[in-house]
Amino acid sequence: MSRLGPLSLTLRVALLLSAVSVASFLVVGTYLYQSLARQMSYRDDVELVGKATQIRRILSELPSPQAIVNDARPLTDTLFGHNDFMLKVEAPDGKQLLRTSATSRPLPQVESVPPQRVLTLDDIHDWVPAMGSGRMVRAVGLVGTGEPLQITLAREKSDRLRILRGYGSDMLLALGVGAVLATLLGYAIVRHSMRQLRSVIGKANDITASRLNTRLSLQDAPVELREMGAAFNAMLDRLEDGVQRLSGFAADLAHDMRTPVSTLMVETQVALSRPRTAEEYQTLLASNSEEYERLARMIENTLFLARVDNAQLALKRETLDLRAELQRIHDYFDILADDVGVRFTVESPPLQAEIDPVLLQRAVNNLVSNAIRHTPAGGTVHLSARESDQGVELAVSNTGAGIAPEHLPHIFNRYYRADAARSDHGHSAGLGLSIVRAIMELHGGNIWVESEPGASTVFFLSFRKAKNI
Ligand SMILES: Nc1ncnc2c1ncn2[C@@H]1O[C@H](COP(=O)(O)OP(=O)(O)OP(=O)(O)O)[C@@H](O)[C@H]1O
Ligand SMILES: [Mg+2]
Repeated sequence: MSRLGPLSLTLRVALLLSAVSVASFLVVGTYLYQSLARQMSYRDDVELVGKATQIRRILSELPSPQAIVNDARPLTDTLFGHNDFMLKVEAPDGKQLLRTSATSRPLPQVESVPPQRVLTLDDIHDWVPAMGSGRMVRAVGLVGTGEPLQITLAREKSDRLRILRGYGSDMLLALGVGAVLATLLGYAIVRHSMRQLRSVIGKANDITASRLNTRLSLQDAPVELREMGAAFNAMLDRLEDGVQRLSGFAADLAHDMRTPVSTLMVETQVALSRPRTAEEYQTLLASNSEEYERLARMIENTLFLARVDNAQLALKRETLDLRAELQRIHDYFDILADDVGVRFTVESPPLQAEIDPVLLQRAVNNLVSNAIRHTPAGGTVHLSARESDQGVELAVSNTGAGIAPEHLPHIFNRYYRADAARSDHGHSAGLGLSIVRAIMELHGGNIWVESEPGASTVFFLSFRKAKNI
């Protein structure tokens, strides 16, 4: 079996079908056979009782036992056409008055029914002839003069039972043919139904990275395959989305790296075109260093997102004192905010949460640095935390121009910048919010934004409660 490999599904179902049909044929056949056999042996017994009763009546009409010896015909006529019957009539002294033919084996000495009792089916006994089975009855019959005679009427297996045996073997033959037919038909039917599966395989073979838009049509698929087809299509959706994101990602990355690299290149080439003073070189290197920093940050952010995508980043949750964490972030950014004339406040009740501390810091840092950057001088940035129904909710709000509604659905996408034309765009890559979103997905939490153009913007992070994680 193991060398032949697993059986095909078609063959399995076909074999199962034939096993089921053989089993049901057998049960029904056996039942029919047995009920027929019961009926036939009942009729045989009724016939035996009938004949014995008839023989008793004929005896009662005879003038004397001697009449039997003189002419046995009235008695033998009752058995006319029934070669399997044997009739023996004996006088009380044991003298045999009539015997139609010898049985293949001696008859057993069963009880004889007295003359005054009517014969019933209970008076029939079994006996065992040389072949098969037999039935017999013994009864006392009275001749006209009142003399009792012993009647023995026996029968070897009747014609009816022989017919039954034939019926049985016919049935076995039909069963064999039926089983073979059921197997073949089952195989053909299952094979036919499997063609939908083969079409799925055909479609799957057609799919390549550049032809991911193929989908299975599910309208005329059988219900059982519809679910599998839907799963298959959903998998293709995800694959297509993944491949598209990947190629978009690569294109955006190349595009964004091109600007700083060409700036560096041009500046360096210009500087090299003629001799420069040490101060000029210093200025150039300082400007280059900024570009290098930007490149390094971009590469680091891209790598972080790639690692999240490849599920290589393991969460290291710790029970955090959220108020202390937020206070630390506040202290770090406060001087920076002060420099640009922005008021930065923090507010949190004592709260504990199971969060990866490094990732939490990274997410809040991204939101706060965005907020400070988009707040005009004199504005406010507010960082807060509170307990919510789901767990804990952090909010980073800032006053300022806000985000236009048309940008809101896109700001969490990689490389998306709502204000790409702004002068400071050279410092941003559009990766910050997509990193925050990736961090929230890793934690099984949520991120959303509410913005009132011309007034304020609030980013919310919600982490689930520790016990639900
Ligand atoms: N607090 C905010 N107020 C107004 N606009 C915002 C705010 N935060 C984000 N945005 C808009 O969303 C865009 C995407 O932000 P994101 O942090 O992803 O990128 P970035 O800040 O431009 O670049 P990076 O964070 O990679 O340096 C920003 O370019 C900006 O237009
Ligand atoms: Mg940012």
